[in-house]
Amino acid sequence: MFLRSLTLENLRCYERAEFDFAPGLNVVLGPNASGKTTVVEAIYLLATTTSPRAGHARSMVRHGEAWARVAGVFDAGGREFTMAISLGDPSSARSGSKTIEVDGRQVASVREALGRVQAVLFWVGELEVVKGPPSARRRFMNTAIGQTSLRYLDDLARYRRALRQRNELLKRMSRGGEDGRMLAPWTTALVEAAVPITLDRDQFVRALAVEAAVLHRRLGAGSEELRVCYDPSVALCGDETAVEAALYERLEQTHAREMERGSTQVGPHRDDVSLEVDGVDVRRFGSQGQQRTAALALTLAQARVARGRTDTEPILLLDDCLSELDASRAGAMLDLSADGQQMVVTSACCPEQLAQRLDDAHVICTGEDDGARDD
Ligand SMILES: Nc1ncnc2c1ncn2[C@@H]1O[C@H](COP(=O)(O)OP(=O)(O)OP(=O)(O)O)[C@@H](O)[C@H]1O
Ligand SMILES: [Mg+2]
Repeated sequence: MFLRSLTLENLRCYERAEFDFAPGLNVVLGPNASGKTTVVEAIYLLATTTSPRAGHARSMVRHGEAWARVAGVFDAGGREFTMAISLGDPSSARSGSKTIEVDGRQVASVREALGRVQAVLFWVGELEVVKGPPSARRRFMNTAIGQTSLRYLDDLARYRRALRQRNELLKRMSRGGEDGRMLAPWTTALVEAAVPITLDRDQFVRALAVEAAVLHRRLGAGSEELRVCYDPSVALCGDETAVEAALYERLEQTHAREMERGSTQVGPHRDDVSLEVDGVDVRRFGSQGQQRTAALALTLAQARVARGRTDTEPILLLDDCLSELDASRAGAMLDLSADGQQMVVTSACCPEQLAQRLDDAHVICTGEDDGARDD
């Protein structure tokens, strides 16, 4: 699947702009603050209905305007389809609403739209996956697995509900305001949702680890070996029943502590993913370049895992991914586009490795009066 063209209206710095894209490498070039990130953000919005950098997609609306619209024309194996998202309502100027159209027809829910456009994004916030707290790596797993499994998103919602209720009860119990009889049903609900989440994450990280190790080597890190490992709060041994038993056992073992703290101490909300480069924890001790290389390998690996699961090639959105990479890593990164996947790479300064490849790439320039230039 690839993006053919993108139309932006009232989106951040854009009043109206149209960009064409090619199937292989697309390079978005322009000075700082010219709207490069906004272009990849708009594509990501079509894939996920959310913005990576704005809590509310509504904040993408151009200042002083009531609505914004992003529309993309995609090619899925020769079949063309369009997807459009309006933020705010152009007819009523009602703010806050989000409408999604597929082939000009409004869809009833976000669920109906999800999965049609597959995209994987690397942007500056992605470094958090490597150097941020465990919650950043849980978010990464949730986004990646959720993009190909609505069932996972449902399990996650059930888990969060059970966790909230159970924690509220534990708080009341720790203050002596409630006896423990009501805890058992919430423990059951918690474990029932936790088991499929744990197994899904385990399966996902195993697949991710294989791809990430290969890509990390390809990214020119040479002899450096990236090891990615799921680090759940229960020991993973065997099937559903074994995980369920392990969760109950760990909950029992930590009951005194959870009463003391008024919160559940084990479960998927405490999971992490360990990342080692040559046996060293890159989360804590990696150099900036090593952390960036690991983050890039994880993003690219995520795209490969998604391709294996959905049979569609996700669009790779790489925002400002070349800075901090040395020449060989940057070159190797760009050579990945030779795999045929559609890539949208943004850059403010066009390093030599990028300049060398511009002849074969589709170039889009931001910050010019006519919005886009086709090569
Ligand atoms: N809601 C908004 N309304 C109007 N302008 C906005 C809005 N949000 C952001 N902008 C502006 O849009 C411009 C483009 O931002 P963007 O992040 O896309 O630039 P960029 O080319 O990626 O820059 P850099 O090279 O620094 O990463 C900036 O000048 C920013 O201030
Ligand atoms: Mg930017």
